[in-house]
Amino acid sequence: MRGLFVTFEGGEGAGKSSVLREIGKELKSEGYQVLETREPGGIRIAEKIREVILNPSHTEMDRRTEALLYAAARRQHLVEKVIPALQEGKIVLCDRFLDSSLAYQGVARGIGLEEVNAINEFAIDDCMPDVTLLFNIEPEQGLNRIMENKEREQNRLDLEHLDFHQQVYQAYQDLASRYPDRIQTLDAGQSFERVKEDALQILRNCLPS
Ligand SMILES: Nc1ncnc2c1ncn2[C@@H]1O[C@H](COP(=O)(O)OP(=O)(O)OP(=O)(O)O)[C@@H](O)[C@H]1O
Ligand SMILES: [Mg+2]
Repeated sequence: MRGLFVTFEGGEGAGKSSVLREIGKELKSEGYQVLETREPGGIRIAEKIREVILNPSHTEMDRRTEALLYAAARRQHLVEKVIPALQEGKIVLCDRFLDSSLAYQGVARGIGLEEVNAINEFAIDDCMPDVTLLFNIEPEQGLNRIMENKEREQNRLDLEHLDFHQQVYQAYQDLASRYPDRIQTLDAGQSFERVKEDALQILRNCLPS
C-alpha cells in the first residue's frame, strides 16, 4: 500500500503554506488520512542540521556544504516521517522539497542544477513526489503579499534581492517544462479560493475515487 506524496513549491508569498493547510482540512473532512509537513518537519536530527545551516555565526559555510546539509535533513525527514506515512496509505502534503533546492541553490545561488540534483538523488533514493504543485506567481506580487500581510518594510526589497527571486521564478518554470508529468503549474496570482480549488482539482485527479 502506498499513499500519495504531494509537494508544494514556488516562490515567497505564493500561497503554498496557506493553501496546504486548507487542502489538508478539506481532505481530512472527506475522510482521507493526511500528513501535513514541511522540512525539517520536527524531526530531531533534521532540526539539528537546520540549526547548523541557519546559525548566523556560521559565516564560513560553503555553498556546497549547505546544499549537502539540506539534502541530509531531507533524507532524515523522508525516512522518519514521509515514508512511514506513505506506507500507511496517507496523503502526504509537504511544504517545499527537492525543487526548492534545485531552484534556490542550484540556480539562484549558482551551484548548478545537475550538481544539486545529484546529491538529492542520493538523499531521496527513489521516493520522489507523485505530484508537485507549482504555485506560479510573479516575484513582485508574492513579495508584496508578504509585505502587506507581515508588515515588512518595503525598502528592504532592494534590486539584488528581487533579481534573486526572479532567478528562482525562472528556475521553477524551467523545472516545470523539464518534468511535465510530475510538476503541475497553478496560477497562484488568482484569489485564494481559486488557487485552492485549482490545487484540489489536480489532487482529486491523482486520488483513487
Ligand atoms: N491567492 C492569494 N491572494 C491573496 N493573498 C494570499 C493568497 N494566498 C496567500 N495569500 C496571503 O499571502 C501571504 C503569504 O502566503 P503563504 O504564507 O501561504 O505563502 P508561502 O508560499 O507559504 O510563502 P513562503 O515561501 O514565504 O513560506 C499570507 O499572508 C497569505 O494569507
Ligand atoms: Mg510558507
